[in-house]
Amino acid sequence: MDLFEKLPLKPGPLGMHGDDSYGYYMFPKLEGEIGPRMKFRGKTKLIWSLNNYLGLANHPEVKKADADAAAQYGMAYPMGARMMSGNSNFHEQLERELAEFVGKEDAILLNYGYQGMVSAIECLVDRHDVIVYDAESHACIVDGVRLHLGKRFAFKHNDVENLEIQLKRASKLVEGTGGAILVITEGVFGMTGAQGKLKDIIDLKSKYNFRLFVDDAHGFGTMGKTGAGTHEEQNVIEGVDIYFGTFAKSMAGIGGFIASIKPVVKHLRYNIRSQIFAKSLPMPMVIGAIKRLELLKAKPELKAKLWENVRALQNGLKEAGFNIGVTTTPVTPVVLNGTIPEATALTHDLRENYDIFCSIVVYPVVPKGMIILRLIPTAAHTLDDVKETIKAFSEVREKLNSGKYAVDSIVAMAE
Ligand SMILES: Cc1ncc(COP(=O)(O)O)c(C=O)c1O
Repeated sequence: MDLFEKLPLKPGPLGMHGDDSYGYYMFPKLEGEIGPRMKFRGKTKLIWSLNNYLGLANHPEVKKADADAAAQYGMAYPMGARMMSGNSNFHEQLERELAEFVGKEDAILLNYGYQGMVSAIECLVDRHDVIVYDAESHACIVDGVRLHLGKRFAFKHNDVENLEIQLKRASKLVEGTGGAILVITEGVFGMTGAQGKLKDIIDLKSKYNFRLFVDDAHGFGTMGKTGAGTHEEQNVIEGVDIYFGTFAKSMAGIGGFIASIKPVVKHLRYNIRSQIFAKSLPMPMVIGAIKRLELLKAKPELKAKLWENVRALQNGLKEAGFNIGVTTTPVTPVVLNGTIPEATALTHDLRENYDIFCSIVVYPVVPKGMIILRLIPTAAHTLDDVKETIKAFSEVREKLNSGKYAVDSIVAMAE
């Protein structure tokens, strides 16, 4: 069979809805200044789907730093990979400042969080080593584990007892191979808002020999007293051996970093394929990230406002009888029951008649029959935004429960 004939027959679980959804449920275009009110299809909506946690995306100092750096250096400089010709004092300054902020000796920049994570996992272990990872890990962890040439064991999501079972199996295995064990989990799980049980995992180090790698994409900037992350929140800065953060969320930029002790970062610098064989971050991204980090540290009021909104939203939803699952972080899932067509009808109603824009999550990301509306509160939202949203959510829940959204197929909205 010809490959090009075959591909349309396998559109995938999301692509199968593409023709009805493009530009609306999937690939929507939000226009205007990044913030809680943006235009969607020409009309202003209240936006709850951007990970602009601290509201830095539009901060005047951030925009100025980005623009000045772009004017001075352009987007090309420095050319080449870090190791060859793409290094600069600013890249190294940012690494030092990130490491210090998250409580580690050193850090390495990543061009993209996702590809950096994939590549770092592959780089840290060899075929004699065993990876033990949370079964509901982000796709970048799953992909990194796929590249690993040795054994891997998934432990049940956030289940420390099950982790211990897997650690026993892994320990037995490495006795034979002479390898080591790497445990990987997340600081904040991006769909449910649950925190990884870092403290309990680290407690297991007294019984098993392993190192812990934490993807804290959602925790960096939002969790802990200073915003350093979930390891700070749980008071286990030392116990997290390797820490990953992205610039794509709290920092409202692009890129990421991994921080650890010096020899581990050195190993990554000379071996991580996604950075050695790819162009380094452009200067405006680096100088922009330095500015963002400076503000993140200097303006604790941004995190305080984020958390004021988080509490108002989550408490308000709970008081209104909504199930928001197990979140203890800004990520706010609202769990409802219904089919995929119902989910699209509800979303359509929310967007068109209540002017509220949030992300929906349905099967296969969550079990069949479950609908999750995921809200990301930010420092830029107001308490009135929260009130407006809870009122609208109560109304659409009423309609969902009384069968008003019971349609047979998804509401076609493609442009
Ligand atoms: C848990 C987690 N890890 C990694 C990433 C990837 O980060 P980036 O967007 O910087 O590639 C994300 C972003 O969606 C994430 O949520």
